[in-house]
Amino acid sequence: MARKKGIKRTCVVVILSLAVIFLLGVLVGWLIKPAVEPKDVSYHAVNIRKELTMEMKAENIKMFLKDFTKIPHLAGTEQNLNLAHRIQSQWMEFGLDSAELVHYDVLLSYPNSSKPNYISMIDEHGTEVFTTSLSEPPPDGYENFTDIVPPYNAFSAQGEPEVKNAMLAGAKGLILFSDPADYCAPGVKPYPEGWNLPGGAAQRGNVLNLNGAGDPLTPGYPAKEFMYRYNADEGVGIPSIPVHPIGYHDAEKILRLMGGPAPPNSWKGNLNISYNIGPGFVSNYSKRQVKMHVYTNNEVTRIYDVIGTIRGAVEPDRYIILGGHRDSWVFGGIDPTTGAAVLQEVARSFGKKVKEGWRPRRTIIFASWDAEEFGLLGSTEWAEENAKILQERAVAYINSDSSIEGNYTLRVDCTPLLYQLVYELTKEISSPDEGFEDKTLYESWLSKDPSTQSTELPRINKLGSGSDFEAYFQRLGIASGRARYTKNRKTDKYSNYPVYHTVYETFELVNQCYDPTFNKQLAVAQVRGSLVYELADSAIIPFNVLDYGIELKNYADSIFNLAKKHQEKMEIYGVSFESLFSAINNFTEYGTGLHQRIKKVDPKNPLALRILNDQLMFTERAFTDPLGLPGRPFYRHVIFAPSSHNKYAGESFPGIYDALFDIENKADQQKAWEEVKRQIALATFTVQAAAETLKDV
Ligand SMILES: *[C@@H]1O[C@H](CO)[C@@H](O)[C@H](O)[C@H]1NC(C)=O
Ligand SMILES: *[C@@H]1O[C@H](CO)[C@@H](O)[C@H](O)[C@H]1NC(C)=O
Ligand SMILES: *[C@@H]1O[C@H](CO)[C@@H](O)[C@H](O)[C@H]1NC(C)=O
Ligand SMILES: *[C@@H]1O[C@H](CO)[C@@H](O)[C@H](O)[C@H]1NC(C)=O
Ligand SMILES: *[C@@H]1O[C@H](CO)[C@@H](O)[C@H](O)[C@H]1NC(C)=O
Ligand SMILES: *[C@@H]1O[C@H](CO)[C@@H](O)[C@H](O)[C@H]1NC(C)=O
Repeated sequence: MARKKGIKRTCVVVILSLAVIFLLGVLVGWLIKPAVEPKDVSYHAVNIRKELTMEMKAENIKMFLKDFTKIPHLAGTEQNLNLAHRIQSQWMEFGLDSAELVHYDVLLSYPNSSKPNYISMIDEHGTEVFTTSLSEPPPDGYENFTDIVPPYNAFSAQGEPEVKNAMLAGAKGLILFSDPADYCAPGVKPYPEGWNLPGGAAQRGNVLNLNGAGDPLTPGYPAKEFMYRYNADEGVGIPSIPVHPIGYHDAEKILRLMGGPAPPNSWKGNLNISYNIGPGFVSNYSKRQVKMHVYTNNEVTRIYDVIGTIRGAVEPDRYIILGGHRDSWVFGGIDPTTGAAVLQEVARSFGKKVKEGWRPRRTIIFASWDAEEFGLLGSTEWAEENAKILQERAVAYINSDSSIEGNYTLRVDCTPLLYQLVYELTKEISSPDEGFEDKTLYESWLSKDPSTQSTELPRINKLGSGSDFEAYFQRLGIASGRARYTKNRKTDKYSNYPVYHTVYETFELVNQCYDPTFNKQLAVAQVRGSLVYELADSAIIPFNVLDYGIELKNYADSIFNLAKKHQEKMEIYGVSFESLFSAINNFTEYGTGLHQRIKKVDPKNPLALRILNDQLMFTERAFTDPLGLPGRPFYRHVIFAPSSHNKYAGESFPGIYDALFDIENKADQQKAWEEVKRQIALATFTVQAAAETLKDV
């Protein structure tokens, strides 16, 4: 279809990742500090959980990984549909009650196979004196694939802008490259000798700014055949300028000639160049221009989720979802297949127990999502189609994207409701770490990554976004969590993992560099599987609302401290956090009562159990506001949202936080502080309303 080549003078584009941005770009991210105290959680049927986790085998995860990464599985391709069918039939063989394909027709975006995207430098006559490479040199053994999608930014606008004075004129295009400073670890060789990013590699990604909308043409609603679709040029979050990723070898050739002043030191990377910020080139090359050639097309394309179920024996209308994506940019060696392989092994172990006659108390739903790389589309469309049911019946969502991004220690991001369960379960899983033989996962995790607020507990992070839990947690308010193996965040300063979203994400990368024994991935399978088991089979849902109260207090303290930097303004405009703290106290008080009732409940009284379980299940839901956050209607969780400045990170009390952000530079101070007051009031209302749901009925 024809896309407008209109180029705006100013434009904000939210970028796939932590790539260093050439010509324009701002990048913010920060770390997060949870802290809670241990509380007891009661457990049931420990034996079944032990049997399930002992059934999981590193060898099987390895086999699934090898099998699923043999060929590329880009969303919308026949290869990825074939893989969906294979997963479906395996789930049936494993013993699940059902496994079906669910399709949606969503907007995807592909390069034009007969007209490649690239960047060139042209001289004063318009002659190309340099062009960037059209593909990444394939790794050994992968030379003969014809279906490796070249590096591109999905949903980029088309165009051939010539870029010279971008800083003055407003960006006409955006060229992304991954600087070695961000994508190489010191002393490590580029792949295949090591696991660093080679100079010819470029990071694929989408450049949508969806804020949780799902398919850009059917925001908020499932992309079924009958659904009304906006025109492609009315789609949500589609940038109006071309964007293209290049490798650092090519970037160096262009950047070396950049003129203008040197940047602040913090903007400099590790290439042997001055990183001048322009505009334009050094005097000898001042006539040169950079020209972008981007011919990527947006196309409505069919995608397929695989949905498998194990029906609950006692409460079949209560759901625990374990979902992760299947589509990959190329081979998906780490992302997502270390997660898809783990999902497969968890499904196999649960299916085996079902074949033996066991059935969980609640229904377990396994999901293999499609088109995550194009904006979390498969998971969001399914959440949209089933929103009414999920709002009424979903207890928890556990994510199963990549199970490793490093080999150092466990990383968990989850709702405070799950802290205790995560701590208790990791105490019963063996550590896969060298030097921690005979120790538990909890012990190695605590030793390597203690929380900054309480050195007696391992760190747990807030949920942000960047993966398929988003619609479930941020939009629907379903308690969610994710767990994976990660790098050492104190010493390893590179972003993601170096070869993220490149052709070098292969089975060999994982097998040789990240997890040769597959024991780290096994530990992650055991964490994810144990969480699903306990959530599905415990008589009382193993949520702890008191940890939520503690965290609410921590989050309120920190946002209050942020506001207090403007003490004078707070006095002038009469800004107070008192009501918010009062609501948080009430939440904790009623939560304490709820946990006392849980201790005394008669386990043989199904109605009494159901009353308490409903209060637990709806706790997370109570934190949602149907109207959403300002300007972000699909982010409805009032306590957490993906940061407005880095979608991967989570922000607490996002409404208040965003109202305070950069407030000193807002022209109308009165108006800005009125918005802060309004956001504090909405947070207070929401927390107090959530507190009321915990009261004895
Ligand atoms: C791809 O490029 C070719 C060659 O320029 C052109 O004929 C064709 O229409 C393009 N395809 C699409 C889908 O735009
Ligand atoms: C690629 O194709 C060539 C020519 O057909 C063949 O000689 C070579 O063995 C193939 N390489 C791989 C890794 O399959
Ligand atoms: C850096 O570049 C300069 C000139 O372009 C060259 O003389 C020098 O050897 C380079 N340094 C390294 C470490 O490659
Ligand atoms: C610019 O060109 C002049 C003349 O050709 C040459 O002497 C000089 O070294 C060049 N400077 C740079 C920075 O390339
Ligand atoms: C795996 O662990 C070893 C030992 O700590 C470390 O040297 C290596 O860099 C790690 N590999 C990756 C890919 O992080
Ligand atoms: C908290 O509960 C107390 C006692 O019921 C009540 O007076 C107060 O208004 C509540 N706080 C809020 C913010 O509603």
